[in-house]
Amino acid sequence: MKQVMLYCRSGFEKECAGEIQDKATQLEVFGFPRLKSNTGFVLFECYQDGDAEKLIRKIDFNSLIFSRQMFAVVAECQDLPKDDRISPLLADLSDDESMPKCGELRVETPDTNEAKELLKFCRKFTVPLRQAMRGKGLLLKSENPKKPVLHVCFVAPGHCFAGYSYTDNNSKFFMGIPRLKFPADAPSRSTLKLEEAFHVFIPREEWDTRLASGMWAVDLGACPGGWTYQLVKRSMFVHAIDNGMMADSLMETGQVKHHMEDGFKFEPARKNVTWLVCDMVEKPSRVAQLMGEWLIAGWAKEALFNLKLPMKGRYDEVLQDIENLKIFLIQNGVKFRMQAKHLYHDREEITVHVQVLSNISPH
Ligand SMILES: C[S@@+](CC[C@H](N)C(=O)[O-])C[C@H]1O[C@@H](n2cnc3c(N)ncnc32)[C@H](O)[C@@H]1O
Repeated sequence: MKQVMLYCRSGFEKECAGEIQDKATQLEVFGFPRLKSNTGFVLFECYQDGDAEKLIRKIDFNSLIFSRQMFAVVAECQDLPKDDRISPLLADLSDDESMPKCGELRVETPDTNEAKELLKFCRKFTVPLRQAMRGKGLLLKSENPKKPVLHVCFVAPGHCFAGYSYTDNNSKFFMGIPRLKFPADAPSRSTLKLEEAFHVFIPREEWDTRLASGMWAVDLGACPGGWTYQLVKRSMFVHAIDNGMMADSLMETGQVKHHMEDGFKFEPARKNVTWLVCDMVEKPSRVAQLMGEWLIAGWAKEALFNLKLPMKGRYDEVLQDIENLKIFLIQNGVKFRMQAKHLYHDREEITVHVQVLSNISPH
């Protein structure tokens, strides 16, 4: 077992590859990434047998920004015959002793326009394949969320990579993408960005306490209100900061105060804010600095914000901005949890979440 499969947004293979290369090197696992632009995946080829298993165990999946899913490849099948794609795949997987017994099967494709047709096939193929895998003992008889996930990823008709991921270190979503429905009454499509961020960064069992009704939030760069909509929907009160127009439907709820001000200068009059969210189109280093200032001052407990990616050196820029923010918080006595992800609804930006755990000196 020498390969790790990583899914990413099409066009971001270089960033995904740079990241896995860095993480592998830190673990003294040597190898190289195989990638092709706009394919939506990267294969990391280790030199030593068993190293793929090491990587999927030791790299914290949540620390990866550009990867949507990560699994160890056990078999690559090419030219699967149309009349029986199942037998060769089963034979390859059951011949390999490193293949653990799995609790769930996901037949997937990388997320590209070309793969859309293939996805239809994957859906149809899942039922008979699951049946056959259960028969062979590769899958448990019933779904088990604690056991590894068996991934079969079709990159072209008749060509797939199969392997497994661990449920405590993978994306729980099919293809690494939460399926969300656009709410018809939301003022903008970017509402889905914040909703996805909640799904990815906040464990579902903590929603009742961390996204609770009655909380106050500040939305910097709020107009027309897609992000505010998500907060209002959770019965929060929102200071919406933007010189633009907020959707009437949101203002009519009575839960929103619109401040036509510069988001870089706004200061909440009462320091009762739990959530700071920010979608201002600005230089990422400036936004990261602003978020740091709010959290250090104790003006918010959790921050969720976008960092717009530059045209060039996208990976280096975000790493630098995130690193600077970490140093800034640490030097000011803030203990925190931070995660950054290139979400499905993000394009030329990534989303960062910071939760303050303790702060020795809120001003
Ligand atoms: C991408 S839009 C936000 C969309 C919003 N999150 C939504 O879901 O509807 C960016 C917004 O940031 C605002 N903006 C940019 N710079 C700003 C600043 N310095 N202060 C306040 N708002 C700013 C713009 O007016 C624009 O409405």
